[in-house]
Amino acid sequence: QAQDAAAGEKVFNRCKACHVADKDENRVGPSLMNVIGRTAGTHPNYQYSPAMVEAGKNGTVWNDETLEHYLRNPKAMIKGTKMAFAGLKNDKDIVNVVAYLEQFSKK
Ligand code: HEM
Repeated sequence: QAQDAAAGEKVFNRCKACHVADKDENRVGPSLMNVIGRTAGTHPNYQYSPAMVEAGKNGTVWNDETLEHYLRNPKAMIKGTKMAFAGLKNDKDIVNVVAYLEQFSKK
């Protein structure tokens, strides 16, 4: 499936209430700059839920596959996550927003 980062930028409008990706600044949620390759729950100076910290300790690393899983239904993948977001139901939206995030990650 082709990724479209420009379309993903529009999808990211739904994340912007809580996240930035182009700066290393935490808001309601952690910065998503360099999120690809990050162990879940490990941005410094961000207060995660115990569930997110646990996921990281159990080996969850953010990559295309884990992000797609999380963004489809955050609370199903990480029970107890404090991310108050229902998830993205459209497969293309998910793939595209991940492509958008890749632009701000060194990998
Ligand atoms: C955590 C992505 C929407 C609030 C995260 C994480 C990712 C992510 C990848 C884990 C980061 C890490 O482990 O460092 C996204 C994307 C969104 C979105 C791509 C839009 C499609 C939102 C919205 C909110 C939000 C709308 C606020 C209403 C949070 C919070 C956390 C978080 C509070 C920390 C979760 C925890 O500690 O359990 N988000 N998010 N996110 N996000 Fe989002």
